[in-house]
Amino acid sequence: MHITYGVEAMAYQKHQQVVPVRWDSRTAVNGHCLLVGMSGAGKTFRLRQMIDQMSASAEQPIRFHVFDVHGDIELNNASSVLFSEQTRYGLNPLRIVPDPHFGGVRKSIQAFIATMNRVRVLGTKQEAVLRSLLNDIYTRNGFKAKDPSTWYVDERQAQLLSDGSDGRMYLDVPIEEKEDAKALGARWDSHLKCWYVALHDYNGPIERWPPKTTSRTHPTLADVLGMARYVLQKLFLGANVEALTHLQATNRAASALNRKLLKAHRQREANITDDAASQELLKAKQKAIDSYSEYVNNIQSGSELVDVLKYDSTEVLKSVIDRLENLNATGIFKSTTPPFDPSCPVWRYELSPLSLEERKLFVLFRLQELFNTAMQRGPQDHITDVIVLDEAHIYADDDPDNPINTIAKEARKFGVALICASQSPTHFTEDFIASVGTKIILGIDEMYWRSAVAKMRVSDRSLQWIKLKKSMLVQIKCNDDAQNRWLGVYTYPTN
Ligand SMILES: Nc1ncnc2c1ncn2[C@@H]1O[C@H](COP(=O)(O)OP(=O)(O)OP(=O)(O)O)[C@@H](O)[C@H]1O
Ligand SMILES: [Mg+2]
Repeated sequence: MHITYGVEAMAYQKHQQVVPVRWDSRTAVNGHCLLVGMSGAGKTFRLRQMIDQMSASAEQPIRFHVFDVHGDIELNNASSVLFSEQTRYGLNPLRIVPDPHFGGVRKSIQAFIATMNRVRVLGTKQEAVLRSLLNDIYTRNGFKAKDPSTWYVDERQAQLLSDGSDGRMYLDVPIEEKEDAKALGARWDSHLKCWYVALHDYNGPIERWPPKTTSRTHPTLADVLGMARYVLQKLFLGANVEALTHLQATNRAASALNRKLLKAHRQREANITDDAASQELLKAKQKAIDSYSEYVNNIQSGSELVDVLKYDSTEVLKSVIDRLENLNATGIFKSTTPPFDPSCPVWRYELSPLSLEERKLFVLFRLQELFNTAMQRGPQDHITDVIVLDEAHIYADDDPDNPINTIAKEARKFGVALICASQSPTHFTEDFIASVGTKIILGIDEMYWRSAVAKMRVSDRSLQWIKLKKSMLVQIKCNDDAQNRWLGVYTYPTN
């Protein structure tokens, strides 16, 4: 696989010799590339050219992941998917990597929290609460932190029991909780042997039970939110599950009574009271009082509180829910996978509808996922995946665990190449710049010259020499000559 950037300026100027400047995957130290240039210098133009040349010269199957924030990386034969709040599909940041060495529950939780922190830092207490919530949700879905055999699920098999056309949401209710489900309005389908509610009734307390699927699935962000809201209610009311359920059943009975009374009133039968509904209400009220009393009477041991204490206080939990709700509201985290065409080598993620923060979250989660998949696949002797990040400064920072830094440093052996374009080298760490095999300067604003001179070891004179779109500086580290040698290059064809 190769890319021709242009011709060597020195040879052309002095001897009219045409010496192509070429990156070749067989000789280059790695496939990573950093492209810096001011606005309008041709970064996006160059990225497109690089992708076209790489895919045309690839000898083995290859996949490009192009993250397009401006919607201007138009490519031949690309499978493009637009990501926005409105689309049905998205990423599931809670998907577990099943590899016993590289994956698992603990790592997944760690990665989720780290990415959230990269956008806006969580407090220590918030982090602990979020960790407890995630642990609980994984346990509920059958993933055990210490048992790698539980980390694999085949999600292609997992489907909701109903596609929604029957207006029902089937629920995954454990047998010992069936009375609670019933009290909250769930009905039993004796044919499917499953509890259900009407689709539009699947909100509030009933969300405590996830939708029933044909086989086990990874939890989703919506599942975590459902559980978090339920725990908040428990904390707020200071009640255990049973007491809470009876209280909710009381509320339901009260509204049923009100509805009936209203109906009677409309029919001008205001004097008629519905005895059955009143009885039901009284019964439900008594049940709530009994279970609250029982809960309070049993509280001396304190053990009932352990379950709730790990969630700290209502304030902390509420603030975690706010963060999760914001994350969920972005609409980029959904369990349906994006409809990319698997036969297409170029996958273009169109992110222009997303806000800056959303783009960052999306790309960082996806990069982590791509890196995990590559590690799981094991070492490769050729490039199998190319990640292309235009405006890469959005995602870069100096945390060594940022997936951009990890990929630059460690992903080469797993067949991954990272191509980043940005306006200046300021946003990238020295480690990142040192790891990248190819560097290209398309012409940068004088404001960034000092950082370029220091970070990319290039001279002021060379930077001055560049003529936008006509010439550029290129440095390609090869296996037999890994020195930092900058070449002046006339863009191809020469003019
Ligand atoms: N080497 C080149 N030869 C001819 N035209 C070029 C060249 N490089 C860039 N252009 C043209 O210049 C314009 C600006 O290029 P491009 O959009 O790639 O810049 P950019 O660096 O990505 O800018 P921004 O930072 O604003 O996104 C485009 O119309 C592009 O087609
Ligand atoms: Mg651009």
